[in-house]
Amino acid sequence: MTTTTAVAHPNIAFIKYWGNRDDVLRLPANGSISMNLDGLETRTSAEFDPQLGEDEFTLQGVVQIGTAAERVSDHLNLLRNMAGVAWKARIVSENNFPIGAGIASSASAFAALTVAAAAALGLELAERALSILARRGSGSASRSVPEGFVEWFVASRDEDSFAFSIAPPSHWPLIDLIAIVNAGPKKVSSAEGNVLARTSPLQAARVADAPRRLNLCRRAILEKNFTALAEIVEEDTRLMHAVMMTSQPSLTYWEPETLELMRIIPEWRAGGLPTAYTIDAGPNVHCLSLEESAQEVERRLREFPAVSQILRARPGLGAKIVPG
Ligand code: PMV
Repeated sequence: MTTTTAVAHPNIAFIKYWGNRDDVLRLPANGSISMNLDGLETRTSAEFDPQLGEDEFTLQGVVQIGTAAERVSDHLNLLRNMAGVAWKARIVSENNFPIGAGIASSASAFAALTVAAAAALGLELAERALSILARRGSGSASRSVPEGFVEWFVASRDEDSFAFSIAPPSHWPLIDLIAIVNAGPKKVSSAEGNVLARTSPLQAARVADAPRRLNLCRRAILEKNFTALAEIVEEDTRLMHAVMMTSQPSLTYWEPETLELMRIIPEWRAGGLPTAYTIDAGPNVHCLSLEESAQEVERRLREFPAVSQILRARPGLGAKIVPG
């Protein structure tokens, strides 16, 4: 059988997905908006083989067993059902960004897996169908399928909840400087955390207000208004983390340095340096900036002893098949 390889980038959410209306289908409680991260990528190859007794999943050169392998097999089952075949697969996946560095790798992982496996099975699927399938593996993966700046629709039916590009990568050369303050793996995965969101009394208010935040964020991107983007992105981050901290059990992903950066970054902006923070389900701080401010933001971030590493990403393309 032929081997098919796909590449996908992780993405950083500007308006966050947190909590599901349907945990099995991974239908989100609210819509979300993100930017794909160029330079960081997952490269996955898929080969289906009628002779194989079990799926084999190799990540960074290590054969996986347990939860990671089961999640991949469950996802392959969706695709096998669509193609009407029972063949098992060899999946080989590599990330070029530090594993365990707290960068959401499940988004690029399930986007690349979906695109590679669908092509290997001969399924000719449009971007929308690929985004829907990727969503079933990991919600944020739906947003790594289309290119550039991406919005994922909230919907009550599987076939209506997909992501699409609202602007190509060339639209606005934003820079994401990812300040790593703790490179260790998180204790509670985002998949587990998403299920807890509804236990917070604040989640209903966060979800009800989401259309307002989505409108402000979409407009800020389309108009390339950095100040407007900064304000809504930071507000959305605080809302999501307030839900995490008030869920049962409560989730606190921050380190002291996370909070230190959350306090100082708006001060830098007030002082005339375009930058804004956003934080996913981890302690590391994504500092959005513009081409003219990125160097100075990076210089200031390096002055924090706890910042062990800074990754830099521009708006990235969508998931695609590449030569093997
Ligand atoms: O889809 P998951 O399980 O990677 O959850 C993503 C959750 C956040 O990264 C915190 C927010 C988001 O929208 O990406």
